[in-house]
Amino acid sequence: MPPSQDNNSSVQQLLETHGVPDKLPTSQVKPSGSILDQLTGNPFFTAGFGLAIIAAAAATGQRALRYGADLLYRRMLVDVEITRNDEAYGWILHWISAHHKAQTAGIVKGNNSGFVGKLATKFTPGLHHLQFQSAKVRLPDGSTKTNFSLVPGLGRHILRYRNAFISINRQREKSFDLATGTPFETISLTTLYAHRNVFTDLFQEAQVLARKSQEGKTTMFTAWGTEWKPFGEPKRKRPIDSVVLEEGMKEHILKDVQSFLDSRTWYLDRGIPYRRGYLLHGPPGTGKSSFIQALAGELDFNIAILNVSERGLTDDRLAHLLGKVPSRTMVLLEDADAAFVNRKQSDSEGYSGATVTFSGLLNALDGVASSEERLVFLTTNHIERLDDALIRPGRIDMSLRLGNAKEYQISRLWDRFYGEIDGQEQGKVQFMQAIKDFGLVGKISTAALQGLFLYNKSDTQGAVRSVAALAEVVYKKS
Ligand SMILES: Nc1ncnc2c1ncn2[C@@H]1O[C@H](COP(=O)(O)OP(=O)(O)O)[C@@H](O)[C@H]1O
Ligand SMILES: [Mg+2]
Repeated sequence: MPPSQDNNSSVQQLLETHGVPDKLPTSQVKPSGSILDQLTGNPFFTAGFGLAIIAAAAATGQRALRYGADLLYRRMLVDVEITRNDEAYGWILHWISAHHKAQTAGIVKGNNSGFVGKLATKFTPGLHHLQFQSAKVRLPDGSTKTNFSLVPGLGRHILRYRNAFISINRQREKSFDLATGTPFETISLTTLYAHRNVFTDLFQEAQVLARKSQEGKTTMFTAWGTEWKPFGEPKRKRPIDSVVLEEGMKEHILKDVQSFLDSRTWYLDRGIPYRRGYLLHGPPGTGKSSFIQALAGELDFNIAILNVSERGLTDDRLAHLLGKVPSRTMVLLEDADAAFVNRKQSDSEGYSGATVTFSGLLNALDGVASSEERLVFLTTNHIERLDDALIRPGRIDMSLRLGNAKEYQISRLWDRFYGEIDGQEQGKVQFMQAIKDFGLVGKISTAALQGLFLYNKSDTQGAVRSVAALAEVVYKKS
């Protein structure tokens, strides 16, 4: 007899001698397996009445145990499940680690009075296995640094929060997100029904913690399959004062964005998609990217960077991505003219550029509608290369040219660099005169000017002398 049959017949025998319980409703059958795990895996239960229940249940038999367990589950335990796609997923993981760290360091103390309180302080369960999460951060000097954090790994953990024990189960599903190749994950938090209120506090704490770690920072998102993922660590907000545009221009844009953000009901009442598109164009190095970053910081927005020439990005995926931009996040499409330039040329692997079509981009931009405000920014160095269809009103509502440095900007930028050491403005007068003598007003970018000032850091005379060299470069180019 083949062994498999042997096995089957012994199972059969077992069932015959011990009997199969009558058909139980599926709702009763399901939790019994997991509840046993919970009962035996949870120090709170093993320490007290949980044990008694198990013992009692064992005495009255299998079926009673199942029934009892189910009752316990339904009456006494509540659970909350969070999937990986939820914004709260990351917060909760980090909160758990932070809370546990604080607890083991003795910062968080429960209420120690009463039986439950005493019992609770006896057990401060540990996180058994941790997962290493790292993120590369680019430092201003160009080098990179890796920040890491430890979060609860897969499996079950028990955590004490106030006087409640919370069983945490981080599970990886068998199915994969086909687009990103990452497995689906869920965390479920289970606690006693009597302690259900702790969840509200816990989630609030987790959210506050997440906000705090973001305070004063701008998160950049990039598309990763069909998801937006933070790109590196959040960056320090760029102060809006650090970007010097033509007189009144910053205020003009800021006022427009702010009035848009304030007119949510106006849009919704009229059935107009609640979004606004901006195009910043002009020569390179005039502060287009810098301004958008500073604006995001000023408005407390994050930035989702869209790269339409990305390999493997299709019209469908693009539409999907634009439909699920994280909240308080503006969409940024840099160098919009370059997106469709290299379509026809194929690389050595026979790959012919992006798979997003121009009409796919238009449709995706039009489809960027949600009940939340949506800000879309496009930048280009070559507005003449942009298709009219892309920049028609409704897609682009405000188009602004950022030009080379005007007198006002040169003077403001000077102040930012030498304001403190050039109190009498002698240096500034000489510098402005030199700029005019060489006819450089409106001929040099703010980036070039910044370069000159950086080169002559705290040396006003050096800056004045450098104007001649700058002029030489400018006139050689043109
Ligand atoms: N208007 C400006 N004000 C302050 N800094 C500027 C300005 N324009 C350019 N810069 C500086 O020059 C560099 C390049 O600017 P960037 O914003 O990338 O220009 P663009 O996107 O227009 O090509 C940045 O380091 C930025 O700080
Ligand atoms: Mg740029």
